[in-house]
Amino acid sequence: MKKSVAILASGSGSNAENIIRYFRSKNNKDVCFPVIISNKEDAYVHERAKNLGVSSYTFKKSDFESGKVLEFLKEQSIDFIILAGFLLKVPENLLQAYPNKIINIHPALLPKFGGKGMYGSHVHEAVVVAKEKESGITIHYVNENYDEGQIIFQAQCEVLPTDTPDDVAEKVHALEYEFFPKVIEQKL
Ligand code: GRF
Repeated sequence: MKKSVAILASGSGSNAENIIRYFRSKNNKDVCFPVIISNKEDAYVHERAKNLGVSSYTFKKSDFESGKVLEFLKEQSIDFIILAGFLLKVPENLLQAYPNKIINIHPALLPKFGGKGMYGSHVHEAVVVAKEKESGITIHYVNENYDEGQIIFQAQCEVLPTDTPDDVAEKVHALEYEFFPKVIEQKL
């Protein structure tokens, strides 16, 4: 059965773009990405959506909490939700409507460097400050607590003593681009 997937992103959206391009390049007709949703009007992900020919929308935090976003997703017949750099907490109404159908990617090896405030460059800075020898990605189901849902997949990269947070971010992004689309493909 054909699956309709919504991608939620708050920032640049390079993962969102990479996921959509992956499925397009495989000519996979069983999966479609009709909408990208952001909580930020000026997020670059809207530009990427336009270039990809995908509709993108902005909803406020209160729209997520009130159920307006859920209503919209139902109207669009969305079966599955991917969080790709999405910074708001997923509200209960979405968790209940999409049990085990919301997947997030975290740019570190959970349970380390997760939780509130641990996003984007903050994560990579914390990894460098802690002198970690490795970092990586964690793909997991979303539950009511930040970064605590069941882990689906992890991949590691080396962190050298000379690495800056930007260096770590680059290595982590490479893992994200390689593995996130494939893991989504397996779990849909
Ligand atoms: C990624 O590193 C993702 O793991 C994290 O936020 C970043 C988003 O990057 N949750 P982009 O917007 O996909 O470029």
